[in-house]
Amino acid sequence: MNIIDIYKGGLAFDDVLLVPKFTNIKSRLDPDISTSVAGYRLSSPIISSPMDTITESDMAISIGKSGGMGIIHRFMSIDDHISQLNRLLTFKHLKDYDQEIPVVLTVGVGGDAVSRFKKIWREFDTEIDCVLIDVANGYSSIVREMIDHIKNFTNDEAKVIAGNVADGEGYSYLAESGADAVRVGIGGGSICKTKIMTGFGLPTLTSVASCQITRLSNSSYKNVSIIADGGIRYPGDLVKSIAAGADAVMAGGIFAGTSETPGDIISINGISKKAYYGMASKELQDKKKGGVKKGTCPEGVSTMVVLKGFSQNVMEEFSGGLRSAMTYAGAMSLETLREKADFTRITNAGLSEAHAYGTRK
Ligand code: XMP
Repeated sequence: MNIIDIYKGGLAFDDVLLVPKFTNIKSRLDPDISTSVAGYRLSSPIISSPMDTITESDMAISIGKSGGMGIIHRFMSIDDHISQLNRLLTFKHLKDYDQEIPVVLTVGVGGDAVSRFKKIWREFDTEIDCVLIDVANGYSSIVREMIDHIKNFTNDEAKVIAGNVADGEGYSYLAESGADAVRVGIGGGSICKTKIMTGFGLPTLTSVASCQITRLSNSSYKNVSIIADGGIRYPGDLVKSIAAGADAVMAGGIFAGTSETPGDIISINGISKKAYYGMASKELQDKKKGGVKKGTCPEGVSTMVVLKGFSQNVMEEFSGGLRSAMTYAGAMSLETLREKADFTRITNAGLSEAHAYGTRK
């Protein structure tokens, strides 16, 4: 089964598995999992979400050191945002590690977005590798206007990640608008309820397949990266995303509760936990926006997550799973993994068998 079947079937991660192929790769350490996102080279295709319970400078440093990209959120004052980026850059310039650490500036649209962008860009200029326009519904004229603004202001120097979109039509709109990477996925995240509240959205795997079909149909989109955003629970979901066309995945939930996440540790019945909530949840709006605006509804939920150690371990588990997957695909690069990807539809019995059922009571 190929990506057209995934798109037509509206399939989700749990609906499919990949069929193993002949391999002559000798070690699981051999495959190269490096990728390019908006022209920036990453040694691992994993990005941490710009959420105030996930990524500030500590997380961005840790994910960067592990070869991925940590994107600091924007739900803070412009001055605090500058100090967060300064902390990241100070670490980056110490050079006591072998990994380049990406620096991404996150902005919204409307409100203080333009002044935030201008002030921070002036402060750091070319130290910023990418600008992320962080909006729930990216298939929108206001996102196009913001891309124009960023590109004009920086004489086309800034690389822009824009989103989120659900399918190839949205991807193509943002690619035509000048985006260098597109964040793909509506309502698929672990703390999202956009699909329930609005009836809109697609399974993230279907969204990625749709965008990849569009990218392959137009050579001018070749370098417009696809970032699968939301719903990554296991390394296998990362693998399926890449195989369906993503250049990288963005994830929040897998990092929630790690040591580098912002937020207080709260003891509940003797168990230490940290909060993880959606950026459109009541909790976020109460905390950062003075409550839920009249006439609107929250589209995210809040949860408490048990502490789970360092984010570097999560990165190792996911990068390791991807490398192992590539030996099953007989692929030394992510491009080859994509070319050789052969999905098969599974049933609930197949899904049940896929999990470690020996531990079930
Ligand atoms: P995971 O599954 O990694 O998803 O926890 C993280 C992604 O979820 C998106 N996000 C939201 N989507 N309502 C939504 O519908 C929300 O409140 C919300 N907050 C975050 C976002 O794309 C993130 O990367």
